[in-house]
Amino acid sequence: MHDSRETIDRKAFVVGHPIKHSRSPLIHGYWLKQHGLDGQYEKVAVAPADFADFITDLKTGRSGYCGGNVTIPHKENAFSLADSPDDLASELGAANTLWREDGRLFATNTDGYGFVTNLDHEAPGWDAIDRAVVLGAGGACRSILQALRNRGIKEIHILNRTFERAQELAERFGMTIHAHPMEALGEVMSGAGLFVNTTSLGMDGQEVPALPFDRMRPDAIVTDIVYVPLITPILEQARKQGLRSVDGLGMLLHQAVPGFEKWFGVRPKVTAELRTLVIEDL
Ligand code: ATR
Repeated sequence: MHDSRETIDRKAFVVGHPIKHSRSPLIHGYWLKQHGLDGQYEKVAVAPADFADFITDLKTGRSGYCGGNVTIPHKENAFSLADSPDDLASELGAANTLWREDGRLFATNTDGYGFVTNLDHEAPGWDAIDRAVVLGAGGACRSILQALRNRGIKEIHILNRTFERAQELAERFGMTIHAHPMEALGEVMSGAGLFVNTTSLGMDGQEVPALPFDRMRPDAIVTDIVYVPLITPILEQARKQGLRSVDGLGMLLHQAVPGFEKWFGVRPKVTAELRTLVIEDL
């Protein structure tokens, strides 16, 4: 049994700029309550110019936090300023989870974990695929490429509006990743078992061009990191084609698990009740 007294005064944060719309306090607040813990989890808005000071206060213990989550635009700086980033954060050059231990500041990146764990839950066996297609080349894309490669997916194809960015990522993440310009989309989607949108396409009612989902395997899975709306235009297109779709909310929920365990000493569960709670807040 976990002793809740250990967590008295344990306080964690999510730091970003802006931070108003973060759902992380809702997620961690739910788990704290569910486990009857005395910890706290709060939003902190910190401008880029003040981030180094925020980390200094965290390291010295002055701020009273045991750790926290880091979001846009601080993930790269969080990695640089941590004393002990792990291999995942080091390869990405970005961290989203920090914790203090023995006077040192540790850092990791749990976005890739959240991504694959969501698929493990929603589409068990998904990793038997040979070919994955990833759209985009931004920060969110990097952790997904890393996670797919680490899971041993044989062929990963990345396409991006700005081809050079896709090329750069393919070089960085290794042999199994191939970059293509957008024009090659139909060709690379042929026979693919997984399609991942890591771009902001479809967010907030944006128009999305028709994608060639008919070229994919009939049992293919389509997933999107955009979760507002929950069923994005890309997921809708995939569903119309009869493909399986997995929404991006699960990635957000699962990426939060390792941090909570570090700060509060309990590994929490992503429950249907938590999902409903967050959906009501979208
Ligand atoms: P993040 O770090 O959240 O992934 P980002 O670095 O701004 O954000 O990356 C956003 C991604 O969405 C990029 O791949 C971007 O393409 P470019 O590299 O060409 O900018 C992609 N993106 C954004 N809007 C897009 C649009 N309307 N059409 C196609 N791609 C788009």
